[in-house]
Amino acid sequence: MIIVTETESFPVARRCPFAEPAEYSELREQAPISKVALQGGDEAWWVTRHAEGRAVLVDGRFSSDRRRAGFPFPGIDRSIRERFRDQAPSMIGMDGAEHAAERRALISEFTVKRLAALQPRIQQIVDGFLDDMLAAPERPVDLVQALSLPVPSLVICEMLGVPYDDHDFFQSRTSKIVQRSTPPEERAQAQAELRGYLGELIARKEAEPGDDLFSRQIALRRQDGPLDRPSLVSMAFLLLAAGHETTANMISLGVVAMLDNPDQLARIKADPGLTPLAVEELLRYFSIVETATSRVATEDVEIGGVRIRADEGVIVSGLSANWDPEVFPAPGELDIDRRARNHIAFGYGPHQCLGQNLARLELQIVFDTLFRRIPGLRLAEPADQVRYKTDASIYGVHELPVIW
Ligand code: HEM
Repeated sequence: MIIVTETESFPVARRCPFAEPAEYSELREQAPISKVALQGGDEAWWVTRHAEGRAVLVDGRFSSDRRRAGFPFPGIDRSIRERFRDQAPSMIGMDGAEHAAERRALISEFTVKRLAALQPRIQQIVDGFLDDMLAAPERPVDLVQALSLPVPSLVICEMLGVPYDDHDFFQSRTSKIVQRSTPPEERAQAQAELRGYLGELIARKEAEPGDDLFSRQIALRRQDGPLDRPSLVSMAFLLLAAGHETTANMISLGVVAMLDNPDQLARIKADPGLTPLAVEELLRYFSIVETATSRVATEDVEIGGVRIRADEGVIVSGLSANWDPEVFPAPGELDIDRRARNHIAFGYGPHQCLGQNLARLELQIVFDTLFRRIPGLRLAEPADQVRYKTDASIYGVHELPVIW
């Protein structure tokens, strides 16, 4: 075990847009579970290997409860954490039976059957934004604003029952919340504004239910007694934020990587049946949500030969685990044939991403449709000049100028 306290705090920003930081591969070889200094001043155990990462994520002795002492918050100022300590948790911050019940209440919204029913509408949404993009009077066009952000935003709005006209409001607040460089006060304000907005929306749906997820959750939860509004708002917050910001960034990064790997792109253009493989590989390659898989030990635990004490924080680095060469040989090569499905880009164990099949479906439809309808799509600037979100809790790009 080594303690890394010298220059870098964790997570380390990606210097190369297409690679894990060198610190991660060094740690993986020398001390795969190491105590590190986190951005924001905390310390936590940093897990870099796939096997130990998965072991942590299925072990009930590690808690997701953000209110517990020792829970690690990379990059979030202490004063802000204190302010939100009393906030009702969403399922991502629950453990055990409480978490299972919350997940059960939502799982029927994300079944294969429901998603299959959604497919034609997602296709229509993608085609609609592509029609507008193709009709744009000027080029380059920013793919983030034209396609990557609007597609998952409109899809999640329709699912949840959020008016899409409010997209500028919720997209800007979410983007501030995930950006580590946002000053603490601004971040807190963005969070409070988004919660306030969702609280009002839920109150309106209580009075006038619609055919949407929020209305169905209100009805379901009323069966158990008076409505716990703060919990509903936390659920709404998680679904709205996770439902658009993640997939949007994956769309943009996926386009950059496919254009940068023309041999792989040619294969999915020739056989769209390969797109699901490409999506899995892109999810592994970028591992955009690196530190959501954070936990705190509830008792002393020995894992991978390292003793982690009760109340110590543990972060399974999704990026590092997904670049573990023992599981993914030559991890820096984008290879759609590697069948990367055992990656942990959506987490692992009981908290594994609830929206993963929705994200997969959106990504497949977007890539197939975009490269079919605009076969000559190119980046307007070299891939290494794109502005990457190196200081956000969700990796991505700020804008992506494209031409064709
Ligand atoms: C490419 C897109 C996405 C990525 C990479 C991603 C990643 C993740 C990860 C790593 C976790 C695990 C957190 C943990 O272990 O504590 C997670 C959980 C979650 N995600 Fe996603 N996500 C994506 C898209 C979505 C979408 C589209 C939705 C919703 C509509 C969604 C909703 C959720 C929810 C509700 C959880 C919490 C599940 C639980 O605690 O049981 N995600 N996601």
